[in-house]
Amino acid sequence: MRGSDIFVYYGCMEVRHRRVRSFVLRTARMSQSQRTALDELYPIHGLKFPFECDLAQVFPHSVYRVVEIGFGNGEATVEIAQAHPETGFLGIEVHTPGFGQVLREIHSRDLKNLKVLRHDAVEVVAAFEPSSIDGFHIFFPDPWQKKRHHKRRLLQTAFLEQLIRALKPGGYLYIATDWEEYAYEILETLNQFSAISNPYKGWAAGLTWRPRTKFEKRGREENRPIREIFFEKRTLE
Ligand SMILES: C[S@@+](CC[C@H](N)C(=O)[O-])C[C@H]1O[C@@H](n2cnc3c(N)ncnc32)[C@H](O)[C@@H]1O
Repeated sequence: MRGSDIFVYYGCMEVRHRRVRSFVLRTARMSQSQRTALDELYPIHGLKFPFECDLAQVFPHSVYRVVEIGFGNGEATVEIAQAHPETGFLGIEVHTPGFGQVLREIHSRDLKNLKVLRHDAVEVVAAFEPSSIDGFHIFFPDPWQKKRHHKRRLLQTAFLEQLIRALKPGGYLYIATDWEEYAYEILETLNQFSAISNPYKGWAAGLTWRPRTKFEKRGREENRPIREIFFEKRTLE
């Protein structure tokens, strides 16, 4: 897919480098009702990339604009959006079957402050204007457990840099994971950015407004500790 490739020029020669992505798109089995929800409701509650990603235009009346990356089935996403009507939320996901459930919930709850986008978040975040987003939520990103797969992890320096660039001064980055070693890696990487600060110093104390997600429930059932990471972008002096 040309959009996920990086082109580098060596003299007059164009060389294509395939970007390692944080997901593998397998042919997704969808139920008829998931398919119907996607076909009928995505045109109402879904956005198109790259034309509709200026969140100031998508949510002109919202006080804040927050983006969730990799919402899975969107169970927590709809709860958060419903509890915060003053905030416009964009949920980004690549896994198609999850859209059926989230679209049906958005529609039946008549949520005007939640839109979804089916696209690679790495490309979407790179397209955001600098200092335009009030918060990013990334709950239980794929840990890519095997060492040889670590290169697929979403939360590495280059992408974190893009998230920080897109955050408004005073905006936040909220990450939760049940994968201890990945949690340390993320915390250490974020500690190296001078543009952000950690009000909790280390792990954030479980923020009570976050509903449990599907993957959090799984992590708890398997007795893995839940690590929460919360950073704020420094305001200009
Ligand atoms: C482990 S699941 C967690 C889902 C949900 N947040 C939860 O806690 O139940 C991670 C999700 O991130 C999505 N994902 C991974 N890389 C992504 C990317 N580059 N852009 C958008 N979604 C991505 C995957 O498709 C997957 O659904």
